[in-house]
Amino acid sequence: MDLIQDIVARAKANKQRIVLPEGTEERTLKAADRVLADQVADIVLIGDPAEIKNLAERWGLTHISEATIVNPKAHEKKAAYADLLFQLRQKKGMTPEKAAVLVEDPLYLGCLMIKAGDADGEIAGAENTTGNVLRPALQIIKTAPGLKCVSGAFLMFTKTPEYGKDGFLVFADCAVMPNPNAEELANIAIETANTAKYIGGMEPKVAMLSFSTKGSASHEMVDKVVEATRLAKEMAPDLKIDGELQADAALVAGVGHKKAPASEIAGEANVLVFPSLEAGNIAYKLVQRLGGAEAIGPILQGMAAPVNDLSRGCSVDDIYKMIAIACNQSIALKNANN
Ligand code: ACO
Repeated sequence: MDLIQDIVARAKANKQRIVLPEGTEERTLKAADRVLADQVADIVLIGDPAEIKNLAERWGLTHISEATIVNPKAHEKKAAYADLLFQLRQKKGMTPEKAAVLVEDPLYLGCLMIKAGDADGEIAGAENTTGNVLRPALQIIKTAPGLKCVSGAFLMFTKTPEYGKDGFLVFADCAVMPNPNAEELANIAIETANTAKYIGGMEPKVAMLSFSTKGSASHEMVDKVVEATRLAKEMAPDLKIDGELQADAALVAGVGHKKAPASEIAGEANVLVFPSLEAGNIAYKLVQRLGGAEAIGPILQGMAAPVNDLSRGCSVDDIYKMIAIACNQSIALKNANN
């Protein structure tokens, strides 16, 4: 897959610092070793240094010695990070006592390191749930300027080259927002277009999906997608986006031209934005399992710095790719802020 090679090459050319809170987890440690061997990123491992050293020896991981290891229970910046957490969250009921406990939680510590400028991105989730990975990130790192919600995209490498860019499409939201309103859905569309452009390397053509195409059905769920499309066009006037479209009208040229003849993207969409998390999560898993597509993600988008969640069934290779993707997200965010 050439795109992944490009993503790794872009990461190597501008090395970022990625923190891995699950520093003693086997697949995470093995992926970190490969990343360090290939010089894709600088790695910060959170965990007990003696345990990490023992595990690295047991598994023959000779590059782990190049990682920075932070012991969550005792390190020189612990008090400073606890104070940062208290300052950020005191209006939400955080106390110095609670902060002193939470700062030892690797998932909070990883996000605090990013907030303090000591790391550029985080990958976790090999042994933690999506909610536990996302909550500290949403509370501490928060959304990028101009965006109001975080969502999760998948890079879908399908076996159908007639659709998308030679079979490659980006799907969202498949991971975060259970039931976005129109404004949130517009945010998701913009974020996913950015992921398609800066990570996927393609010119986004965004379809706002529904069970209706251009007024073929009337329902408040359709109205939401129509309004989200209007808002997204207002937020990003140059973006190629249209809706509401059914999936076939979005993807199949013949159907798109018939059902939405005036549309700029019908029949050639490469970004699919789903109206709810139910639709997006079910769709990506069906395309993956029944259609044999490779699904890479979820790539969390809209955050001020990249924090990517892993599936608990992930492989070493998945973690390696997600680290390289986080590096690309960090580079894109830094470029956007300069
Ligand atoms: N974007 C930006 N900020 C958000 C978002 C979002 N999507 N969601 C929550 N927040 C913020 C809130 O505003 C709040 O900020 P504040 O405390 O500063 O006011 C903070 O995050 C916590 O919000 P809560 O609503 O209390 O967070 P909660 O923990 O209840 O929910 C979560 C957040 C975990 C993301 C929840 O929406 C969730 O569980 N989503 C589904 C995740 C999931 O299970 N996905 C499917 C599996 S993944 C897969 O299959 C690939």
